[in-house]
Amino acid sequence: MGKDVIIACDFSSREETLAFLDRFTGRKPFVKIGMELFYAEGPAIVRELKARGHKIFLDLKLHDIPNTVKKAMAVLSRLDVDIVNLHAGGAAPMMRAALEGLTRPDGTRPLLIAVTMLTSTDQQTMETDLLIREPVENVVLHYAETAKNAGLDGVVCSPLEAEKVHARCGAGFLAVTPGVRFAEGDKGDQKRVTTPAEADRLGSDYIVVGRPVTAAADPVAAYERCLAEFGCAGI
Ligand code: C5P
Repeated sequence: MGKDVIIACDFSSREETLAFLDRFTGRKPFVKIGMELFYAEGPAIVRELKARGHKIFLDLKLHDIPNTVKKAMAVLSRLDVDIVNLHAGGAAPMMRAALEGLTRPDGTRPLLIAVTMLTSTDQQTMETDLLIREPVENVVLHYAETAKNAGLDGVVCSPLEAEKVHARCGAGFLAVTPGVRFAEGDKGDQKRVTTPAEADRLGSDYIVVGRPVTAAADPVAAYERCLAEFGCAGI
């Protein structure tokens, strides 16, 4: 799998999701299934989108005690998705247990990445609500290093931190980055954002784009603009 744009399919039903994806005639974007769609439709929507030929990032952000996460990951491993994730805040024992659970009897597994600090959290919120009094970037890099040492494949972070994650954890350690907006776009609840072009310059491996595509008047054009700005049109 190479550099790509992942569309966050934050819809509440199968019908809405399929109607949205049917607009992309002749192409199969890499899609992210998050809590909203998964809780609405369950594993069936994952199987259906996989059968339609989409690569899938299953974004359920697991965060619980190691044994619970291990068992949940074992169930998710049967869904044959490409990427799954958890919260790095669950710490290294949880991450190692997750990897064990996710690894199938034949040794294969989806990529496993850790959410560092949500891109909706800024420095002030982190300090006041979480009592973490370090620069966000230090926290992200520390979580990334912990995830790498636990054997994970990468992290979810802001594009603003992608370059430093690679410097600290190696070029092959994935920086999957939501928090992407067009230059003239509305940030919504996201705080640590860049444009797709800036994410490319900073070395993001995958950008995750939701509302700038799903809420666009022309989602296909918005997706193509993301591909072009991120430097992967025609790949
Ligand atoms: O609509 P928007 O582009 O903000 O969507 C970003 C997507 O990425 C959402 O589905 C959100 O759940 C997800 N995400 C995020 N920040 C993280 C991890 C995932 O925004 N740290």
